[in-house]
Amino acid sequence: MLNFEFILLNLDKMIGIKSIKRGIKVSKKKIASARIDTESSDLLKVLNNSLPFDKVLYLEDIKGSLAHASMLANKGIISGDDFKQINLGLNEILEEIISGSWDIEEDQEDIHMAIEYRLTQKIGDAGKRLHTARSRNDQVALDFRLYVQKETKEIAALLLNLVETLLVIASKHTETLLPGMTHLQHAQPINFGYHMMAYASMFKRDFERFESSYKRNNFSPLGCAALAGTPHPIDRDMTASALGFDAPTLNCLDSVSDRDFALEILFNIATMMMHISRLSEELILWSSSEFGWIKLSDRHATGSSIMPQKKNPDIPELLRGKTGRANGNLISLLTVMKGLPLAYNKDMQEDKEGVFDSVKTAKLSLSVLDEMLAQMGIDKEAMERACNKGHLSATDLADYLVKKIGVPFRDAYHIVGNVVNFAEEKGVDISELGLSDLQSIEPKISEDVLGILDNKASMNARRSKGGTATSRTLEQIEIFKGWIKNVQ
Ligand code: ARG
Repeated sequence: MLNFEFILLNLDKMIGIKSIKRGIKVSKKKIASARIDTESSDLLKVLNNSLPFDKVLYLEDIKGSLAHASMLANKGIISGDDFKQINLGLNEILEEIISGSWDIEEDQEDIHMAIEYRLTQKIGDAGKRLHTARSRNDQVALDFRLYVQKETKEIAALLLNLVETLLVIASKHTETLLPGMTHLQHAQPINFGYHMMAYASMFKRDFERFESSYKRNNFSPLGCAALAGTPHPIDRDMTASALGFDAPTLNCLDSVSDRDFALEILFNIATMMMHISRLSEELILWSSSEFGWIKLSDRHATGSSIMPQKKNPDIPELLRGKTGRANGNLISLLTVMKGLPLAYNKDMQEDKEGVFDSVKTAKLSLSVLDEMLAQMGIDKEAMERACNKGHLSATDLADYLVKKIGVPFRDAYHIVGNVVNFAEEKGVDISELGLSDLQSIEPKISEDVLGILDNKASMNARRSKGGTATSRTLEQIEIFKGWIKNVQ
């Protein structure tokens, strides 16, 4: 019995294993066709070949093949000697790819055929036995799923970093006032930490979406063969556990046709990019001279080629713009999949480029956003000054009339409307009105109203669960810290 788990676990260490080159000649032509002898049209190759983009799956392909070959040997389907040669050959190919000594751009259809071709070139018949009880349909489903699972973990880790950065900013600004808005109009005073925690909440949900997709899709399609399984006495549990899956998938017909795992990562990325885009939009607004609440570090701003005074927020603009391609990639694959009969159809080769692009976009965007937030300057005074416009404590005055004087809320709402009109005529904010001004509109108002109109008091009055009061914001930050400790 060969210890195949050991071989997989030590895959990285096995790079650099002794050369076994024998220089066996293998026909380059059509190794994936037993029926077609004619050389393919050049145009067909351009349309058909996925090697130019699926070569990034080389590691997944080699891992999958090692697990498969090892299982075949364990089950006596191929000999121990064949396995030894396959193992050495695949490790050597891995080394060649990493060192660049083998130009992977062979005249092969895809990464699966390219590696099998190279293996057979090296070890002859043993290489030709690797594909026993396997089809490219389960092979590509496996490789792509391994890739998606690996990237899901990496994106989730970057999301955690981002949430941690937001927590650091939030902790420093639980008393920094700014106008909370609806319709982009000043609404009620909140604190900046609270605003950051709103984004932390979105990114936490994103993390949880990646986490749950990982769990749902952590099943191995390897051994499903073309569509219906195989008559060979394979052990799918063995390969599934060697490759880090929870179990093999249940139905082979579904497994080779399923691209839900790819759609899920695309959806998760699109949703996350939508959150990144909303935050970027706010950063762009806040860094404008109209707001002047934040200053992006010079490392994250660019100049204009003609206007010497300009400092442009290109980075958040690009993050906002890149959301478009994330949405597009999701819609593309949904559209590719929507009319496909079971099982594999070549349309499905269109599943990869969009996912590669979304993954690259997601990882870059998360890293850039994290760095930009950590280095941005926050102008507390400018934020607080902005609270003096827009009558932010108008709702507090209405609540005062309800609680202290027993006015029905709708009447209180109209009284405060009159107060706001009065303040507008005087050209001041309602928080700047004196007691006599207020009493001229509602005589029952007494001196205790003045504390209520203060913006900080207004913010801290919102102590209901999930509210903006500093105490509630600190509570949210603590809950998030506990959560991070648990997931790490
Ligand atoms: N390059 C193909 C893909 O990406 C691999 C699967 C090919 N299977 C087939 N029966 N032609 O989907």
